[in-house]
Amino acid sequence: MSTPLLSVRDLHVEIQTPRGLLKAIRGISLDLDAGESIGIVGESGSGKSITLKAILGLLPKNARITSGEIYIEGVSLNSLSANKRAALLAEKIGIVFQDAIAALNPVMTVGKQISEVPYRRLGWSKEKSHQRAIELMQLVGIPNAEQRFHVYPHQLSGGLRQRVAIAIALSGNPQLIFCDEPTTALDVTIQAQVLRLLMDLREKEKTGVVFVTHDLAVVNEICEEINVMYAGRFVERGDVQECFQHPVHPYTYSLLKSAPDMEHQVERLFSILGEPADLTKPVTGCPFAPRCFAATEICQSSEPALQSVGSSASACHHAATFMQSLSALDLTKDGAER
Ligand SMILES: Nc1ncnc2c1ncn2[C@@H]1O[C@H](COP(=O)(O)OP(=O)(O)OP(=O)(O)O)[C@@H](O)[C@H]1O
Ligand code: SF4
Ligand SMILES: [Mg+2]
Repeated sequence: MSTPLLSVRDLHVEIQTPRGLLKAIRGISLDLDAGESIGIVGESGSGKSITLKAILGLLPKNARITSGEIYIEGVSLNSLSANKRAALLAEKIGIVFQDAIAALNPVMTVGKQISEVPYRRLGWSKEKSHQRAIELMQLVGIPNAEQRFHVYPHQLSGGLRQRVAIAIALSGNPQLIFCDEPTTALDVTIQAQVLRLLMDLREKEKTGVVFVTHDLAVVNEICEEINVMYAGRFVERGDVQECFQHPVHPYTYSLLKSAPDMEHQVERLFSILGEPADLTKPVTGCPFAPRCFAATEICQSSEPALQSVGSSASACHHAATFMQSLSALDLTKDGAER
């Protein structure tokens, strides 16, 4: 078996907050190979962005990794000095974050920002870096790239600025791209174009993609594997089609029921009642239990681990039962099961 491009093992992250110590990430593991695309979905605050930031070494000052290992092509980041770790991450992983547009430098032309990485980090000549920037601008679908090389971010529309951010992420020829809600700020047409671009990159350049989103329809479109996150853990993992058709965790089922109809865009059918778990408090049972339509006694006292169920994996005591029945359950509009 080949070594995965990225491997994360049992990652834990804690954050100091005014309310106390928040156990934001509580044992995340994942593997990603070249050309693979995985989606991470979950409600706001479930830990999606913190997971990516922890892998990238970009955690806020009040947060720290308390345990776990991250490997890039089999090399443990823990075994490297801070400088070597940062250089390896920058070489292998391109990033398009939620606030990518804000991250552009307002006083530098977009072309210069894209050519910086090949010029400074890859040691290319100015001419070659310039040429690469033009190629990338064309690749991400920026019309009149030669002219636009010389414009400043504020002279471009939101959609074009997001493409610039993607071109910057690609400028060091990364093998992996991390996207954190990269299309939320864009209108539907531009969003579709950006997604198509990411799919092209996967196919043509074999770029691995980690895509964080609230939008299940996007995951359906561009990912092979889905990881459903709840309270700092993955609670369901599997092939996207399989999980959508036969979810094996009540939370995934509830998310699917609460999403707009992916094909027909109908209004919201179902919303998940209750509040997400407070991770400044100790977790005693299944963190989803207070909101779960299928909770039983064991769910109050023991937190289930992620385990294989058929071709998927689920962190639910009753996953095996759901394998047969969940797609057939009928939930009412207010979230209670009949
Ligand atoms: N800088 C910070 N200081 C304190 N708490 C934080 C900080 N950043 C994140 N958190 C908390 O960590 C938890 C996980 O946050 P994270 O940003 O990963 O959520 P998310 O799943 O990305 O949500 P969203 O979908 O809204 O982006 C949340 O409870 C959040 O409030
Ligand atoms: S373990 Fe129990 S509470 Fe948790 S998701 Fe499964 S049925 Fe619901
Ligand atoms: Mg986030």
